[in-house]
Amino acid sequence: MATALIVLAAGQGTRMNSDLPKVLHPLAGVPILWHALQAGRSLDPERVVVVTGHGAAAVEASVRAYDPDATCVRQAEQLGTGHAVAQAMPALAGFAGRVVVLYGDTPFIHPDTLQALIDSPAEVTVLGFEAADPARYGRLVAAGDRLDRIVEWKDATEAERAITLCNSGVLAAEAGLLAELVAGLGNDNAAGEYYLTDVVGAARARGLAARVVTCPEAETLGINTRVELARAEAAFQARARAEAMETGVTLQAPDTVFFSFDTAIGRDAVIGPNVVFGPGVTVESGAEVRAFCHLEGCHISRGASVGPFARLRPGAELAEDVHVGNFVEIKNSILDEGVKVGHLTYLGDAQVGERTNVGAGTVTCNYDGVSKHRTVIGREVFIGSDTMLVAPVTVGDRAMTASGSVITGDVPEAALAIGRARQVSKPGLAVKLFEKLKAEADRRQKKVR
Ligand code: UD1
Ligand code: CA
Repeated sequence: MATALIVLAAGQGTRMNSDLPKVLHPLAGVPILWHALQAGRSLDPERVVVVTGHGAAAVEASVRAYDPDATCVRQAEQLGTGHAVAQAMPALAGFAGRVVVLYGDTPFIHPDTLQALIDSPAEVTVLGFEAADPARYGRLVAAGDRLDRIVEWKDATEAERAITLCNSGVLAAEAGLLAELVAGLGNDNAAGEYYLTDVVGAARARGLAARVVTCPEAETLGINTRVELARAEAAFQARARAEAMETGVTLQAPDTVFFSFDTAIGRDAVIGPNVVFGPGVTVESGAEVRAFCHLEGCHISRGASVGPFARLRPGAELAEDVHVGNFVEIKNSILDEGVKVGHLTYLGDAQVGERTNVGAGTVTCNYDGVSKHRTVIGREVFIGSDTMLVAPVTVGDRAMTASGSVITGDVPEAALAIGRARQVSKPGLAVKLFEKLKAEADRRQKKVR
């Protein structure tokens, strides 16, 4: 059955004490909100609607960055979760299928859990969890998996507060029904809010079925404070490390490796200590990332080795058996099979052909202060140490550049390019110069005394 997603993200997040909207605080390298969007994406939704309010412009920009096809709907006043869903329903006009409601501040709902929710045959299905400390969560009044209603903590009796089965906030219902139910909500309750949770009682009153599907409490963790954000980050990293090792990745010092929400590493890859993965990194089987590397938006192929102390920025593509050594930065560049960039180098907006060797201290001068330009280096080229490649520039196959050259013009195939002043050696001049300098220094000393 077709599915659609509504993500609630209009709340202020007062307790973050921040100018940044809560759902935009980074978790595992990306906004908290992206985790919910990613979990929702696993259902292959036909439509995605995000309800925004506080910091709407920034939140909407972030939504578009993740999913340009998502619709954002503004909820001018935060009158409750039911009101928020009601704002989203017009954007689902004409959609016939199941709607899943997620919270933008609840990042860890597992795709399998969402699938279980979708697979439930009931008209309304709520995701619940057994809370270690039920605190102020809404309580699920249920018999087995048959759900009667949800009662908010504020409105609950002592007996209801004793229930430990709690509402995660995630809910699934057929689109047309959900639209009718939220349109009929009132706000006559302790908070004076339109509660989404009241749709359960309303569905039951119509003689429809409501069920509860449960998941581990860890999945329902919501983020309200910076302490909770730090806890969520730790929980994410612990899980990512364990998962990496379970799938055959060696982590030499797991506690010092930081993953992003989408890091993908193949079996038998080896990751050294203190490696940070930003978003968009894939590492193939058998590759090695040595200590203290910072990687972001890059691909490392089988047999390649990177670091220690290397930085790969977005668009760095390393083919098989490439070697990138210490203090090398690579941005938006494709390195073909067997390329070696051993030391102290910057490659930006470059293409480097097979088995080319890039000497220490090489820099692609890709920026002229206004625009970026490309450097194209052929195959089996030898770039001498300390070569400045002033882009746009092309170096042909099997060519060579002399150390210390500033290459401003294209180098033909198989040519040796030398772009530096010719060396002159003046016999005996070094000693004379020393004597002169010492004499001057002595004169200055005498004056002082
Ligand atoms: C809600 C549930 C509660 C559940 C708990 C789980 C209701 C009435 N209560 O309570 O049963 O146990 O979540 O965490 O649904 N939001 C909007 N617009 C609004 C109000 C909220 O977009 O007008 C968004 C918030 O940004 C947040 C989410 O909805 O992401 C939940 O809102 P929040 O106020 O935190 O709900 P709770 O009172 O915690
Ligand atoms: Ca909450």
